[in-house]
Amino acid sequence: MTIPMNDRAAWVKGGLAQCSHPPVPVRGPRRLILLGAPGAGKGTQAEMLSRGGGGCQLSTGDIFRASKSLVTADQSPAVRGALEAMARGDLVSDETVLEMVRERMRCLRCNGGILLDGFPRTVAQAAALGQLLEEENIKLDAVLSYEMPLEIIVDRLGGRRTCESCKAVFHVETKPPLVAGVCDRCGGNLRQRQDDAPEAVSIRMAAYKESTAPLAEFYEMQGLLLSISAVGTPEEVYQRTLDALDRHLAEGPAHSEAVPD
Ligand code: AP5
Repeated sequence: MTIPMNDRAAWVKGGLAQCSHPPVPVRGPRRLILLGAPGAGKGTQAEMLSRGGGGCQLSTGDIFRASKSLVTADQSPAVRGALEAMARGDLVSDETVLEMVRERMRCLRCNGGILLDGFPRTVAQAAALGQLLEEENIKLDAVLSYEMPLEIIVDRLGGRRTCESCKAVFHVETKPPLVAGVCDRCGGNLRQRQDDAPEAVSIRMAAYKESTAPLAEFYEMQGLLLSISAVGTPEEVYQRTLDALDRHLAEGPAHSEAVPD
């Protein structure tokens, strides 16, 4: 059965927005975090995991990019600060990120499963997320940590093109669209992300090393970390992910049933 792609409106837009295809509730939904340096392929793997086994790709980067299309008067000072930080390649403040996530608690509770992409990104965010999940009696299944050498990352980010409408991700060499500049999925325009410019990439890498890399140890201590090589084709990395997840879940899954909205 093909699972229709969800537009994730409840996550991306927040407020009362409803998803186009709310995920079908499943028993023991998968709840995963995807970690990795910028360009390691977290978004690509999250999309494949979502298509293959359900669960929503919940990217905090997508929330901020979506608020870019709001007219300036509708952007709160926090959102304006977040967009400036992103454009430079810096992390958005923990306070702003956590406020956005708290507003979207119904997505974390989703009984179709969740694939957290780019959140948490600091130890403070991880601790706050742990508390939110504990309050809801939601347990994470695993944290997927995608490992990749720096020189490949730079190539991946330089060639990335993202659909303005549905956020599908392409690469000019490794995953070109059928028609240059046009999204295969929805026909939207493909654009290069502002923070994929070389100056912003080096700032993003530094922020990753300083703030996000320590999360691996944080989740290793909880027995949740699965290190996965992100080298190879998206399909090879996906297969490695499924194998690692199967092994981990066979050792003792940590599913919980969340209360539906
Ligand atoms: P975010 O949107 O989360 O970006 P990121 O973590 O920097 O990650 P990317 O989206 O750049 O890369 P990816 O790993 O998803 O790679 P992808 O699959 O696209 O965050 C952006 C900014 O928002 C941050 O810098 C920060 O300012 C702010 N922000 C967001 N969350 C925050 C938080 N929690 N706290 C603070 N600030 C936050 O792949 C890259 C390219 O490679 C694509 O073109 C793809 O087609 C290609 N590719 C992927 N896999 C392969 C493969 N196996 N082989 C060949 N090509 C591949």
